[in-house]
Amino acid sequence: MDHFTDREFERASAYLSRTYGLDMRSKRVMLECRLSRERDRLGLPSFDSYLNMVESGKNPEASARFIDLVTTHYTYFFRERKQFEFLRDTAFPKLERGRRRRRWNILCAGCSTGEECYSVSMLVEDYAQTHRIPPVRIHGIDVSEPALREARAAVYPASRVDKAPHRWMMSYFAKSDEGYAVTDRIRKRVSFECANLSDPDPLSGTYDLILCRNVIIYFDERARSRTLNTLHRHLAPSSYLVLGHAEIMRDRAPFSYCGDSIYQKQAEETPL
Ligand SMILES: C[S@@+](CC[C@H](N)C(=O)[O-])C[C@H]1O[C@@H](n2cnc3c(N)ncnc32)[C@H](O)[C@@H]1O
Repeated sequence: MDHFTDREFERASAYLSRTYGLDMRSKRVMLECRLSRERDRLGLPSFDSYLNMVESGKNPEASARFIDLVTTHYTYFFRERKQFEFLRDTAFPKLERGRRRRRWNILCAGCSTGEECYSVSMLVEDYAQTHRIPPVRIHGIDVSEPALREARAAVYPASRVDKAPHRWMMSYFAKSDEGYAVTDRIRKRVSFECANLSDPDPLSGTYDLILCRNVIIYFDERARSRTLNTLHRHLAPSSYLVLGHAEIMRDRAPFSYCGDSIYQKQAEETPL
């Protein structure tokens, strides 16, 4: 494995911070490991020449592979069971009271390979069996195209579905030689899009519920607060924002805390 010079490492981490909000200052070895193989694959003589290619954007495939290689995509179905119980017992009933007829719009920001979006869709499917609810749209965004390709394919190995309730396994997956395929009924309310949360305005529309779990933990302080601002702007008043368990919102001013890393936006608009 080749090593970065100090200058190359600073250049790579500054680019990742500036463009994607990622804080890579303590991840030098990980970056070297993941990128040196890619640099070899492309036949480039130095990290500098590799970074020239990525930063110039002249080879879109290399730029897309770069961000995919440096991000962490770990996820699985029904991750953080208690948060799903909150959605079922508190967030959905509240939406049902407030939005009887209009579509519910749910965002999974940093959705990785899709398990989170489909888990929410399975929860909605269960809920709709005993409640009259309007159509629901679940939109997943992520910066990694390869992760989104897997999300769209919606076929998973046993190791990624084994935390899902047994009843879901039986009802919402079709087992095949390739793995567990999410059924069309669950897939049809889910869409995916490649977007960078660090762009000035990566979202459009207003959401009635946002999950952004285990994403901002990888961001630097500036990107974290910029992203929370963005999510706040696109969240309907009184609606919930679900973060990952290790993600703490320091200045909660326009949100109230509901426990389990779940925040509720205030009814009145207050800028962050
Ligand atoms: C660890 S996964 C979290 C998946 C899922 N939310 C969960 O909690 O299981 C983090 C995801 O965030 C995505 N990500 C990182 N930086 C991003 C950015 N600037 N914009 C959009 N997505 C980003 C990564 O590509 C990765 O798929």
